[in-house]
Parts: sequence; C-alpha cells; structure tokens
Amino acid sequence: MKKIVGIWGSCLLLLSGCSAIQNMDVLNPAGSQAAEQYSLIKLSMYIMLIVMVTVVVLFVRFVHKYRARPGFTPEKHQENRNKKLELTWTILPFVLLLILAVPMVKSVFGEEKQDNTGAMKVKVTASEYWWKFEYPEEGIVTSQELHLPKGKRVVIELHSKDVIHSFWVPQLGGKQDLIPGRTNKMALTPEKVGTYQGKCGEFCGAGHSFMRFLVKVDSQQDYQQWVNQMKKENTSSKLSAQESEGQNVFKNNCLSCHATSGVASANQGKEGPNLAGFGDRERVAGFMPNTEKNVLKWLKDPKKVKPGTEMPKAKGLSKDDYAALSAYLKALEK
Ligand code: CUA
Repeated sequence: MKKIVGIWGSCLLLLSGCSAIQNMDVLNPAGSQAAEQYSLIKLSMYIMLIVMVTVVVLFVRFVHKYRARPGFTPEKHQENRNKKLELTWTILPFVLLLILAVPMVKSVFGEEKQDNTGAMKVKVTASEYWWKFEYPEEGIVTSQELHLPKGKRVVIELHSKDVIHSFWVPQLGGKQDLIPGRTNKMALTPEKVGTYQGKCGEFCGAGHSFMRFLVKVDSQQDYQQWVNQMKKENTSSKLSAQESEGQNVFKNNCLSCHATSGVASANQGKEGPNLAGFGDRERVAGFMPNTEKNVLKWLKDPKKVKPGTEMPKAKGLSKDDYAALSAYLKALEK
C-alpha cells in the first residue's frame, strides 16, 4: 500500500511540474480548438481513473482474500468458467471505448467540416530551424513571432522547405506536421490575448529543440496596428551614427538573405528570416531573450548557438562592426 501511495505521490509531483512550464500548457487552453481537445483529455482521464481505481481496489481485495494461510486450500476456490464475469469484462471495455471514440471522432470530423469562409489565412513555412509566417491577404511576411487577432478563426497552411517538422502551440491547439511537397491545413481560433509558446513537435535534426516560436494574440485593434506597421517600409532617417554604421555592415553582410521590411515583395528571394520589427521581438534566433549579449552571441557564432543552422558566421567583422550591427538590429522597431 505504501508503494502505491508513493507511486501516486510521484505522479502528482511530476504533474505539478507541468504548470511551471509557462504558457506551454495543454491543460490551460486559450483557443476554442485547444479547449475542445482539453475536454477530450479530461474525458479520457476520468474514464482511465475509474478503470484504474476499480482494478486497484479489486486487486488489493483479492490479494488479501486469497492469501496463503494455514488451512486455506486455493484449489477449492478455482473456477473453470464464469459466463457472467467473462461477458462483463468483454462488454464493459467495449462500452468505455465507445464513450471515448464517439466524441473524439465527432470532434475530428466536425473540425474538418467547419466553415472557413471569412476565416483569416496564414501560410507557415518551416525550414531548418526557423519559422516563416506569411499573410497573403495583407501582403506581409514575418518570422519567429506569429501575430494573430483575438476571436478570429485562422486557417493555417503548413509547408516545409526541407524535412518533416510539426507545428505545435499547445495552448491554442494542434499539432500538425509540415511535410515537404505537401500542403497541410489546420485551424485555430485564439480566444485570449497573450503570448503563447510554439515549437516544432517533430524531431527534425540537430537544431530541433531550438526550433521555437511565439504566438502573440492581440486585440483586433492592436493586431491591425501591427499589420499597418509591417506594411510600412523601414526608413533610415532616425538612425544614430552607430546605427547607420550598423546598417552599412548589414547591407554588406546580411541583406542578401534578410529583408528588414515586412512587405511581401521586399522578401522575394530572401532565404533567411525576415527581420522587420526585430527590435520589438522578445527573442533572438527563436529561443533566446532578445538582449544585446544574446544578439552578439548569435551573430558571432550561429552554429554554436543553434547546431545545424544555415546562418553563416560573418567574416572579417571587427568588434565595433558587431556592436554597430547589433545596435542597428535593435533599431528595427515597429
Ligand atoms: Cu523542426 Cu523539429
């Protein structure tokens, strides 16, 4: 009995750790699809609990009742057949599986049948090891931070440039694979303003665990403001001397792969992540806090920070060049 209590205790302790992973929580849904999945998780948990408690109680009872003791002959209690019992343990699991299956099948096919007219579209492209987010209706592009308006159904089109990745935002619903040469679709309806963690849910190579992203769910108004800012071309009129210096370094080293404008046409042929509004982003390289120290760490040796990344080390840059580059990136604000 002590052992059982011990096992249960450790399970609860492990579960309590889940809440420590901030905003990564399937058990704290912030979107309607995630809420539906959560109710299905609860249903299956309750059914499993009933089964487990029943089995444990019967097990303990029988172990005690038929224990070896002086004057006890087990043979006397053995039965060859018991039709009633056999029927019970055949039909009961069938009924339990039915209770699980009906709402789950209903939920999966119900979601597929949902009307997508009036839904917003976002095209997600995964590459080793970053995320591109395109908004075809707005003609804008961003990377690593997906902005969505609250309360709007969004149909997400999933593409991969290289290997199989998987798009997963536990609090909003998911997950769905991104497969090269194929277009997958999923829908999300975020219901709460906030920042949610997203990650690649399929092992895809050395940098897999760093393939993170954020989903920023804004109010309709804030979202529209963000879209308007992204549509504006960046101007260099407000740059300080160091930032202009950094802009030159950027032009010579980074511009062939990275656009600093969120306008889709400005991103054509750019193989690297878009950097519009980089100064406002929470993270650098998708997973580190966006501090000067981390930006420099990333610029100076990308492959050390994120194994397998295609981002090359810039050659022949001085300490001042790096500092200027970092200052310029910081100046890329909304
Ligand atoms: Cu991409 Cu794991």
